[in-house]
Amino acid sequence: MVTMDEIVALCKRRGFIFQSSEIYGGLNSCWDYGPLGVEMKNNIKRLWWKANVQLRDDVVGLDSSILMNPKVWEASGHLSNFADPMADCKVCKKRWRVDQLQEYKCPECGGELTEARMFNLMFKTFMGPVEDESAVVYLRPETAQGIFVNFVNVQQTMRKKLPFGIAQIGKSFRNEITPGNFIFRTREFEQMEIEYFVKPGTDEYWHKHWIEQRINWYYKLGIRKENLRVREHGKDELAHYAKACVDIEYLFPMGWSELEGIANRTDFDLTQHQKYSGENLTYFDDETKQRYIPYVIEPSAGVDRSLLAFLIDAYEYQQIDKDDFRVVLHLHPAIAPVKAAVFPLMKKEELVKKAREIYNELKYKWIVQYDESGSIGKRYRRQDEIGTPFGITVDYQTLEDETVTIRDRDTMEQVRVHIKEIIPYLEERIEVKF
Ligand code: GAP
Repeated sequence: MVTMDEIVALCKRRGFIFQSSEIYGGLNSCWDYGPLGVEMKNNIKRLWWKANVQLRDDVVGLDSSILMNPKVWEASGHLSNFADPMADCKVCKKRWRVDQLQEYKCPECGGELTEARMFNLMFKTFMGPVEDESAVVYLRPETAQGIFVNFVNVQQTMRKKLPFGIAQIGKSFRNEITPGNFIFRTREFEQMEIEYFVKPGTDEYWHKHWIEQRINWYYKLGIRKENLRVREHGKDELAHYAKACVDIEYLFPMGWSELEGIANRTDFDLTQHQKYSGENLTYFDDETKQRYIPYVIEPSAGVDRSLLAFLIDAYEYQQIDKDDFRVVLHLHPAIAPVKAAVFPLMKKEELVKKAREIYNELKYKWIVQYDESGSIGKRYRRQDEIGTPFGITVDYQTLEDETVTIRDRDTMEQVRVHIKEIIPYLEERIEVKF
């Protein structure tokens, strides 16, 4: 299996992910997505949106603000409950999350630890020019609450009937005690969340439905089945709002770890918001003529963790023959940052002209690259390493019969295709049928 160091090195070398503020020595656990990283991240978000909003009649989207009325966090329980137990090593002064320790001593130097105390993970700041208690606001630790507080707005304006969901993608912030493992656990990250509102009593059915839907999404996008598993939370692990929760776990280099959580949040959040806001957040059921607070099933995925899992799953160091090897990312074409690369076989005017024409046409549809420098073999390998699924080469035959070769990244096999057939050829292979 690939190591995290190899992934970090590839990400930096090829422009996927850089350390934040690197020229100033960086900032712990903060990362910047480079030109290829941002494309890949956008692809993941678009594919999630497509499967969960565009293709579903029962889910609509939302983009709520990161800063919210602080009452939201009182009602949601985050101010009182969203905390991890923390302790410091008396010898080396390192700080640890107590619930992640095997034994109650410093894992680094074996030193004695201070008594554990609870540490709230929410980032605090001030709104406006006066920095006093009345100006305190928080950076949201989950996108979910923006959905709950808009439940009535969305339900009424979109005239939705239960069951229906609201989906949102956006940044969340947690002052994690022990961030690490590259982009796996950071203090600023992006979530893709759905709050799916259902009639109480049907919640267990919908919980199963969403577990199945979400695991299939990863399979469809090429994650190997043996690297995914579903793990149910024990009662002692459940978040303060959940009746049941399962994690979809991925086999990361540091071991099985959470990729996505799918929780049954019951009517906890809407009940709390109704109580704290004084607004009526019930739903009127036309069929039973009753008013009630819906239950909620919540599939909650991390964009950054998904991207990391896709990269790790796709990575291969391939020995081709005795002194020939390549690094190749077998990314699903829909996830690959660059869909195709166009090459003139040689830097000859008539080949360059034709290759540029093809490139200019393709870039209206996808992110594509044009490359004329170095041997064709080297150019293919450069694309293999960033996961570009198709290499399109213009050669002398192109000038005679308008055909090009299309090289498949995984098999390295080439087929000859008429120029007019390039777009349908790529389209068929890039599109995902969810
Ligand atoms: N609204 C429910 C919720 O936020 P969570 O299990 O705390 O649940 C959901 O987070 C997902 O968000 C996780 O499965 C993970 O993918 C991502 N996530 C959470 N904390 C993260 C962090 N510190 N860094 C990166 N991703 C994180």
